[in-house]
Amino acid sequence: MKSLVNIQLSENEDSVIILDQRLLPSRIEYLELRTAEEMYDAIRLLKIRGAPAIGIFAAYAMYVLSKVSKKSREKTLEQYGDYLKSARPTAVNLQWAVDRMLCASDLRAECRAVHDEDAAMCEKIAENGLTLLKDGDCVLTHCNAGALATSRYGTGLGALILGRERKMNFKAYVDETRPLMQGARITALELMNAGVDVTLICDNMAGIVMAQKRVNAVFVGCDRVAANGDVANKIGTSGLAILSKHYGIPFYVFCPSSTVDAKCKTGADIIIEERDSSEITEMYFKEQIAPQGVKCFNPAFDVTPRELITGIVTENGIVYTA
Ligand code: MRU
Repeated sequence: MKSLVNIQLSENEDSVIILDQRLLPSRIEYLELRTAEEMYDAIRLLKIRGAPAIGIFAAYAMYVLSKVSKKSREKTLEQYGDYLKSARPTAVNLQWAVDRMLCASDLRAECRAVHDEDAAMCEKIAENGLTLLKDGDCVLTHCNAGALATSRYGTGLGALILGRERKMNFKAYVDETRPLMQGARITALELMNAGVDVTLICDNMAGIVMAQKRVNAVFVGCDRVAANGDVANKIGTSGLAILSKHYGIPFYVFCPSSTVDAKCKTGADIIIEERDSSEITEMYFKEQIAPQGVKCFNPAFDVTPRELITGIVTENGIVYTA
């Protein structure tokens, strides 16, 4: 099955059309976003999600908003940019794309370039990642780092998808990734569509999967790489890295170079997004599953220290950190 288009500019270029990723896998619905508020909400509520995809979306959004800003003169493009950047703090790609658009002289060409460059980087990341695998290997994944989180192929899933195109066979254990279930809802869908043999597990089952030697490696995406090699990714990633170290399983992080933040010294400098407790207590459940009023802590990301990472795979190659 061809992968779904996640982001595109409308024909008359006055809106951005996105696949509403909150509804996957049961419903495929597209949303047309025209206003800055609609675009902010799309990022904030994860209608569009995944670090590179958020960056691509922000680039298109800035192009559309540049026309609004010229016409209405209510807000400058810089103000729209600051507003979009404030939607989510952890993935650097959002800030990166907005700043890149603010420096561009031809915004129309620039947003297309951001998209095309990401597709080219993903393809190279997939090629580089494929050198880590042999036919029949089994990989553990967390959250979603596939085509829907990027432009095509994805980062963390790219090697598996490219390998399948070359008739290689792979298995994957897919963490469901509580609380927003990106693994169960999106990674399982993308890998099954690619023909990978998928087994879905709850997040707390990764330990037994590794203890029983069911996986050859762990592949994850990431939202920001600090200058020292620490990495922020979906909550639960650091726990997986600790387990991997214990069981001697290689732990690889995949990202385009747009996710590297040279200005951020270490993982301690990365702002971790905290989200609403309803994501833990009721979202994706038929009814509330925790006592009314219970206190919750809901960080959306965590930081994996560089010493737990075997290597970081980008379009430029593999950097071995451990
Ligand atoms: O909260 P999300 O769904 O945007 O989080 C996504 C992740 O953590 C991904 O692993 C990361 O953005 C890399 S996407 C190629």
